[in-house]
Amino acid sequence: MTAAPNIRIAPSILAADFASLGDAVHSVEQGDADLLHVDVMDGRFVPNISIGLPVMEALERVATVPLDVHLMVVEPERHLESFVAAGAAMVSVHQEAAPHLHRNLSTIRALGAAAGVAINPGTPAAVLEGVVDAVDYVLVMSVNPGAAGQPFIPPSMSKVRAVRTLLDRAGNRAPVAIDGGIGPANAAEVVAAGAEILVAGSSIFGTADPAAATRRLRDRALAGMTTAENA
Ligand code: DX5
Ligand code: ZN
Repeated sequence: MTAAPNIRIAPSILAADFASLGDAVHSVEQGDADLLHVDVMDGRFVPNISIGLPVMEALERVATVPLDVHLMVVEPERHLESFVAAGAAMVSVHQEAAPHLHRNLSTIRALGAAAGVAINPGTPAAVLEGVVDAVDYVLVMSVNPGAAGQPFIPPSMSKVRAVRTLLDRAGNRAPVAIDGGIGPANAAEVVAAGAEILVAGSSIFGTADPAAATRRLRDRALAGMTTAENA
């Protein structure tokens, strides 16, 4: 009866201690994380370089939850096959990095993974209109991509609403994910706006107890679901 099972918590491994990634994965799985969010940066689409295939393969060996790969790279089409082969269950590409977005999404689906589009804070929801038939989730960036630990950009809240409305109008129940500056203080509000996948880095791995932080984030998110149902 409740929509609560649609909420998924996706800890972002970017904010973990890279010297003990296995422990980090286990800790959030202890906290009932639904997904593990893997931020791949190429030093071109975004200034930083982060996680590549060898680390992805290592994560795949230890993780029991599905791996959600966020490709912050130019020419994402060059990497889709290898990341799916390395264990990605979900792959998102940036609209801003992909002139052939629809083709990329179709490729991800054909490879057997869920196909996501990520959009930057400066990108309007309307860019999704041409790909509503090809998208399995939309990742709304609520910080400028490139680093963990940045503050939430407030207009992202209405962006979540706009994306949810656009998908609903197209008859696509694909979930909206939100990524950047998410924590217990704003989880309920983003869920009330229509987000179902909450990506969180610092608010989980920046605490002494990532398992407890994962559970707490879910509790706060579920409070937002109640608000959404009563709206
Ligand atoms: C930013 C990444 C995020 C980041 C989130 O470019 O896409 O996934 O790790 O980190 P927090 O939750 O600390 O903003
Ligand atoms: Zn991310």
